[in-house]
Amino acid sequence: MQLDRIRHSGLHSKIMSAEQASEFIKDGMTVGMSGFTRAGEAKAVPKALAERVKKHPLKISLMTGASLGNDLDKLLTESGALSRRMPFQVDTTLRKAINNGEVMFIDQHLSETVEQLRNHQLTRPDVAVIEAVAITEEGHIVPTTSVGNSASFAIFAKQVIVEINLSHQPELEGLHDIYIPSYRPTRTPVPLTQVDDRIGSTAIPIDPAKIVGIVFTNQSDSFSTVTPPDEDTANIARHLVSFFENEVAQERMPANLGPLQAGIGNIANAVMMGLLESDFKDLTMYSEVLQDSTFDLIDAGKLSFASGCSIILSERINAQVFDNLDKYRDKLILRPQEISNHPEIARRLGIIAINTALEFDIYGNVNSTHVCGTRMMNGIGGSGDFARNAHVSVFVTKSIAKNGDISSVVPMVSHVDHTEHDVDILVTEQGLADLRGLAPRERAIEVINHCVHPEYREAMRDYFERACLRGGHTPHLLEEAFSWHTRLEEQGSMKKVQPAVPPKLVSC
Ligand code: COA
Repeated sequence: MQLDRIRHSGLHSKIMSAEQASEFIKDGMTVGMSGFTRAGEAKAVPKALAERVKKHPLKISLMTGASLGNDLDKLLTESGALSRRMPFQVDTTLRKAINNGEVMFIDQHLSETVEQLRNHQLTRPDVAVIEAVAITEEGHIVPTTSVGNSASFAIFAKQVIVEINLSHQPELEGLHDIYIPSYRPTRTPVPLTQVDDRIGSTAIPIDPAKIVGIVFTNQSDSFSTVTPPDEDTANIARHLVSFFENEVAQERMPANLGPLQAGIGNIANAVMMGLLESDFKDLTMYSEVLQDSTFDLIDAGKLSFASGCSIILSERINAQVFDNLDKYRDKLILRPQEISNHPEIARRLGIIAINTALEFDIYGNVNSTHVCGTRMMNGIGGSGDFARNAHVSVFVTKSIAKNGDISSVVPMVSHVDHTEHDVDILVTEQGLADLRGLAPRERAIEVINHCVHPEYREAMRDYFERACLRGGHTPHLLEEAFSWHTRLEEQGSMKKVQPAVPPKLVSC
């Protein structure tokens, strides 16, 4: 039964334990592992490596597609194995080590990592560890619930370890579409013009001689921890659905909107859930991670096709999807992340990009990554790949965080991931700001009137009006621009005593 999963019989001799396979990883190596948004990560070898490192310390530079599940980033961090980590993570322990300066974290646009490997701007992996459902007759690797950067890691690495995970349904085979761009300067366009185009192979084509070890595992992906929509996220969704309805009425979007991209996390998932109650149908997704909402929309007959690079589901829906893959087979494709996030394709398809901000400012600059400008949260992920190239680039967030001690709309963002030039629409539960075609002073009025929480609105108006008196294309009071953040750091809240003036609409 197990051997059926290795259809290249010449590779049967490569079966070994995770502990043996982990011995291929040596001190100072660069290691590329599968795994994207806690889906499809290699599980046994990194765990064995973490155990080994506790007794025999070594340091590696670890690159993945995105975040790892099953606490692997935590285990590797605690073991002391990580010197460098890229390009994305979501783990609390690793986050702490990054923010303490113990692990050097390279926060990267997710479409760029393998492009930089291809061009030798980054050190190529010595070893790749890739989770698979099977190895084909040719010795090619069939990935599991994510493709991420696995294909290029396996192609560029000197040695490849394959983890065949028996807990994944063999029916995953056939969902993947592995396309690898050619080298510059003779590169041709990526031949993808529709979300459901298949342009590559269903397995990762490598020379089987590079496979040095095969490990069998039987451990599931972690469940997604996405929470159900709450009143605020449902309101964000409502504002966005009304906006889409108006765009269609004005003939600026087709009746099915065009391909949707939705970011990670609770808010983006809730926004997509909001489409369930809308009249839209025949929707499509050209996105990165496919969360619960994708499958709820398919089941409701609203979404006809979803292209992504990983699937991560909560316990509520996980079995329902993976035990019935045939039902979704003609509606799904999983691609390498450089293709799911490719700027050329995002621009060609006219993607509607919906990503989540930690905070944004009155002029539309967005911080997705750094709390108070210094402490890394997760990373930019694919949000920049999509936002820069989208037909319409939307950022959503709740207007306040931490019981109101934080306003997510601030005078000036404390870190910039997406500049005002890449941001069209901002949405909080308070309302929606349409920034298209507006100059900075007009943008600020739109944002203050529609997005700022009432508890912070007057203070923001006051800031803006005083900044306008000083002048400038983008008016600011530099000595005060970060005063909300410093008040948070010093006093635990951005709030200050409200000025005793009656509310009025800003104009400048
Ligand atoms: N300052 C400090 N903390 C803030 C904050 C702010 N302005 N706004 C939100 N937070 C905190 C929340 O309180 C919450 O904290 P908790 O985990 O202690 O409860 C945490 O950030 C997550 O916020 P939540 O409201 O649950 O949103 P989310 O799950 O949708 O995540 C991001 C929001 C921004 C962290 C997440 O979307 C992200 O990492 N984005 C960047 C990467 C990206 O966009 N990838 C998608 C590309 S396809």
